[in-house]
Amino acid sequence: MANPQNIVKQNVDGAFFVDQTCISCSNCRDLAPQNFASAGDYFAVFNQPKTDSERAMSLDALVCCPVGAIGIQSENKGEYDIKKAIQLVPKEIANSSAKVFYLGFNSPDSYGGKSYFIKSGSGNWMVDSPKFTRHLVDWIKSQGGLSHIFLTHRDDVAQAGDYAKEFGAKRIIHRDDLDAEPDSEIVLEGVEPVSFDSNIIIIPQPGHTKGHCMLLFNEQFLFTGDVLTADKENKLAQGGYCWYSWKVQQESLAKLAQFKFSVTLPSHGRSVIATQKLMSEQLRAIIR
Ligand code: SF4
Ligand SMILES: [Fe+2]
Repeated sequence: MANPQNIVKQNVDGAFFVDQTCISCSNCRDLAPQNFASAGDYFAVFNQPKTDSERAMSLDALVCCPVGAIGIQSENKGEYDIKKAIQLVPKEIANSSAKVFYLGFNSPDSYGGKSYFIKSGSGNWMVDSPKFTRHLVDWIKSQGGLSHIFLTHRDDVAQAGDYAKEFGAKRIIHRDDLDAEPDSEIVLEGVEPVSFDSNIIIIPQPGHTKGHCMLLFNEQFLFTGDVLTADKENKLAQGGYCWYSWKVQQESLAKLAQFKFSVTLPSHGRSVIATQKLMSEQLRAIIR
């Protein structure tokens, strides 16, 4: 519960505020870019929501903040229905022909990384783990359960073990990041892509960590973990952190160029939605 006594001083006056428990994960800016921005050590509300759309997006940011650092001033609480906002998460990804969702409820254990849900005919998949919440468990049950939990890399395992136990789902991680989730049921080896079903390919992409992988669904959605994100112009860009090797990451991205995709879904930062041709050009520009 955010505390107005512990407010970040850069917040502008109004209903929404960020307090100093903020871990600067940037998720609020990703979800409500018109209203939240970085303010040095923390994020803050730099523009109070004015339209219905901005109010809805700011409520999404409040619900999905990994540490509950976003609050509504007590005099404004009657204007917002937080319980209803919770019911609106997970969110279906816009413009999708297949069913892919942002799960929300980012976990502080993955530094507020995003996780996703794929509705697939042969069983539903989770990509990286959110917080373990009763709301999400019930929602996943309503979608038919969970067969696989794909972990892009060691940083984003969060509560995957709890979800695996709840649903009997198989966790998938690369051998080189296995120590982060040692009980995983499926362990990937080497650097060759691995197909699951007819429409899912897991693509090893070492660099950010040694065992980092991406997942390609339907030749459309590329779950990019911490390697690819969006720049300020909403173009494809590399993430800012690399724990293993930038050189290896560059070599991995060169191999990624053989795959087609048109939507990127990162752990941190915003998605890019483009044509396959444009996406390919932006990836090649990064590789160059
Ligand atoms: S989502 Fe929460 S923790 Fe992350 S930057 Fe925003 S206020 Fe801070
Ligand atoms: Fe990471």
